[in-house]
Amino acid sequence: MSSVKKLAFLTFCAALFMAGSASAKPGAADKGKIIYDKRCTWCHGAEGAGDGAAQDRLNPPPRDFTSGNYKIKTSGFEDMTPNDDDVYRMIRDGMPGTAMPGWSDLLNEQDMWDLVAYVKTFAGFDKPPAKQVDFGSQVKSSAESIEKGKKLFEDGDRCVECHGKSGKGSASKRLKGDNGERTWPRNLTKPWTFRGSNDPKDIFTRVSTGIPGTAMPSFIDPASKKKLSTEEIWHVANYVASLAKTDKLVNAENTVVKADMVEGELPATPEDERWEKSTPTTFALVPQIIGEERYFTPSNDSITVRAMYNDKSIAMLLEWDDRTKSIPGDDSAGKLADAPIAEDGVAVQLPVVIPKEMQKPYFGMGDEAHPVNIWHWKSGTTEAAETLGLMTSKGFKSIEKREAAGVGLKAKAIYSDGTWKALITRPLTTSAPEKDIQFIEGKFIPVAFAAWDGSNNSEKGSKHTMTTWYWLLLKPATGSKPLVLALLVAGLFVAGLLWWSRSAARKTAA
Ligand code: HEC
Ligand code: HEC
Repeated sequence: MSSVKKLAFLTFCAALFMAGSASAKPGAADKGKIIYDKRCTWCHGAEGAGDGAAQDRLNPPPRDFTSGNYKIKTSGFEDMTPNDDDVYRMIRDGMPGTAMPGWSDLLNEQDMWDLVAYVKTFAGFDKPPAKQVDFGSQVKSSAESIEKGKKLFEDGDRCVECHGKSGKGSASKRLKGDNGERTWPRNLTKPWTFRGSNDPKDIFTRVSTGIPGTAMPSFIDPASKKKLSTEEIWHVANYVASLAKTDKLVNAENTVVKADMVEGELPATPEDERWEKSTPTTFALVPQIIGEERYFTPSNDSITVRAMYNDKSIAMLLEWDDRTKSIPGDDSAGKLADAPIAEDGVAVQLPVVIPKEMQKPYFGMGDEAHPVNIWHWKSGTTEAAETLGLMTSKGFKSIEKREAAGVGLKAKAIYSDGTWKALITRPLTTSAPEKDIQFIEGKFIPVAFAAWDGSNNSEKGSKHTMTTWYWLLLKPATGSKPLVLALLVAGLFVAGLLWWSRSAARKTAA
């Protein structure tokens, strides 16, 4: 290595080292102000009071920095001042599940340290915190520790009171943040919605200090009746970390719902054990933005789909976490909602004609040339049972409502501890191929999903969450003729390609 190269290499290592250590760099508040005024006022307001132009549309609302509340901090619970590293981390990474973006793509490190210095001035924080979280010695995760943590989580309703028995945050009471805004306990099975992370050390910190400005309490506060020791908090943290549901993780690479062929009867209930062996695919649900009512704050954020078929019918199991069971007319449901409640619901959208190439129908509800089927399940009211609607749609203005039972379309749903599971079945073929999709094995069939949380701003009609188009594939049974044939064709194709490329190479060489 030449000395110049060596120097460059050492500088590179030093830079890496510095980037890796998040130790606080002195930031300049006056420089931070210039960046703040350009990038942050839209949400946080010119004076840092959380009253920027966007405030009305955001839940959770932008932080009011004058309150001095920092949710994700590692200073002791009795000390409001956050560590600079804490604030830096939130500015760099953003806060998942909220409108707070991460800034590392737009701002450099120094910019972000300058912002830290400036943002702290709104609450008059001018000294580092006097106390830090006491981690004691970390208890490594183990089956035993998780078991102990589970007990502590449930004992005297310690965490269950708000997060529910399964940790999904299924609501049993109304909670508010310090600014009077409605808040919901986190769904602990969805770590990607944590503002911090679900690393046991992060969870330890949140349980220890609580989440300032929210109903999430500190469990080392001497005044707390449900106080925990350092060791106990580690057990709880290990338990919470173990709740992460990987089968509900949205993975951008999974775009196909794979329906397995089964011999004999299809599952008749959402609880049938065979569903556990069926491959789950999870998709992100985003607010519907095409319809008239454009804005609302969604609560359902993902849907997990499984499917099976036999020689007669197809069965789809739709599963989504919903913190409230919304049955209009039901008092306990009514008490939790902020607006009149509507029914919970879910819908499946499929093209009437399976496109030849891997083409997807129009994003909305089909069009003249590309009609779609919509299967729409609703949870029912205290007066009426659950219902299943069937529609053939050629766009928002051309919707034909039909009798679901007429084509053998059936649904059965159950709600338990924060999760809806809806089973929808239909015969593979019907007597009206011009109006109904006819399922064919071995083809990529476009499919999209929608969900309604009736307790969230009265979601109904066009106010809902939805996925984009994905695929449904009825996987040919292994060893069946179509699969063998498909493999044969694919094999021949590859052999042909090889032959072609070799002969082309030979020609070029010649
Ligand atoms: C699009 C709106 C938006 C913009 C722009 C925005 N923020 Fe935020 N920010 C939020 C929201 C919403 C929260 C509160 C999230 C919560 O309470 O869970 C937040 C919270 C924060 C927090 C609190 C962290 C904690 O631990 O509680 C900091 C610090 C912060 N923002 C800094 C900034 C800075 C600096 C900028 C500009 C570079 C900025 N934000 C721009 C929406 C925004
Ligand atoms: C009184 C209600 C209440 C109790 C009791 C409660 N929590 Fe929470 N918890 C909340 C709320 C509300 C939030 C969401 C705060 C917010 O809006 O950011 C939350 C958030 C969390 C988070 C998310 C952290 C993050 O980074 O986003 C974790 C983890 C958590 N709680 C764990 C626990 C554990 C473990 C217990 C019991 C030891 C517990 N909570 C007890 C109300 C509660």
